[in-house]
Amino acid sequence: HPVDQLILALPKTELHLHIEGTLEPEMMFELAQKNGITLPYANVEEVRAAYSFDNLQSFLDLYYAGASVLVTEEDFYDLTWAYCERAYSDHIVHIEIFFDPQTHTARGIDIGTVIFGITRALQDATDKLGISSRLILCFLRHLSEADGQATLEAALPYLAQIDGVGLDSSELGHPPAKFQKLFKRCRDLGLPAVAHAGEEGPASYITEALDLLGAARIDHGVRCTDDAALVVRLATERIPLTVCPLSNLKLCVVDDLAKHNLRNLLAAGLCAMVNSDDPAYFGGYLNANLLACRAALDLSASEVIQLINHSFEASWLPDADKARWR
Ligand code: ADE
Ligand code: ZN
Repeated sequence: HPVDQLILALPKTELHLHIEGTLEPEMMFELAQKNGITLPYANVEEVRAAYSFDNLQSFLDLYYAGASVLVTEEDFYDLTWAYCERAYSDHIVHIEIFFDPQTHTARGIDIGTVIFGITRALQDATDKLGISSRLILCFLRHLSEADGQATLEAALPYLAQIDGVGLDSSELGHPPAKFQKLFKRCRDLGLPAVAHAGEEGPASYITEALDLLGAARIDHGVRCTDDAALVVRLATERIPLTVCPLSNLKLCVVDDLAKHNLRNLLAAGLCAMVNSDDPAYFGGYLNANLLACRAALDLSASEVIQLINHSFEASWLPDADKARWR
C-alpha cells in the first residue's frame, strides 16, 4: 500500500515507550541465565504464549516479573541499546523513554546502576545512530506517594540525566490526586511532567493529571472522548495524547483496532500521535503500530503525516530541531 511506504520512509519520534517493555523473550532468557534467576517459563515460546492479557493488571504482573532479570549496568545498557537499534531501523530520529526505577530499587538494585546503563546507551545512540533522546523517570502509581518521594530523593544526584517525570502502572483506584505533593516537588525542581491517564481509568483522571499534576502531555488519554468538554479543552490547549494502539488492543482497552478512536481524536483537532508503549509484549514497535492502524482504520497519507508531525510537535526537542524534521 502506498501509505505504508510513507510510514516506513518518514523520520519519526517515539514519545511513549517503557524501556522495560522492550525486553524481548530472547534477552529475558539470556539475562536470567547470566544472573542466575529462575523464570517461570521453560523457553522463549512459553514466554510468548503467556502474552495474552485481559487487562492492564494482567500485563503488569508479567512485565514486573520479566524485569527482574535486569541486574547490572550492562543489562540496562544492553536493553536500551537493543531498543535504539530497533528504533533506528524504524527510522526514528528522536526518543523520549520512560523507566520505572521502583521496579528495580525494590529488588535492591541501585538507582544509579539503572540510570547509568540507560544513559550510556542513549549517548551511544546519539553518537553512532544520530538518535536524540530524553529520559523520563516514572513513578509507580500502585505504590504510595511516600515511596515516590523516596525515589525522587534517591534520583537527586542524577538529576542532570533526567529530563522529566511520569506516572504509570495500575491506573484504576490510583488517581493522579494521590501524587499531588510529589509532582509539586518535581515542578519546584524544574522537571516537566507527563502522566498515564484515561487508558483504563476515567476521563476525570485526565483532568486531574492536568490540573493537579501539571502534566504537559497525557499518555494514552483515549478515554477523553467520554467527556466532550475535555476534548475541546485538550484541543484548545493543544495538550498532546501519546496514543498506543497495539497496546490498547492487547490490553483490551479496545476489542478491535478498527474500532480505535485514533481517527476521531485527529478529527477533533487533538495533537494525538502513535507510539509503541511496551513493544516486546504487545507485538510491534512503532512502524508496526502505524502499519496496523493504517490497515485497520484505512488512514490516509495526510492522516499519517499529521500523526508524525504531532509526534515532533509534542516532543521536548527545541523548536529549531522540530523545524528540521517536520
Ligand atoms: N507500564 C508499562 N506499560 C504501561 C501501561 N500501558 N499503562 C500503565 N503502566 C504501564
Ligand atoms: Zn505506557
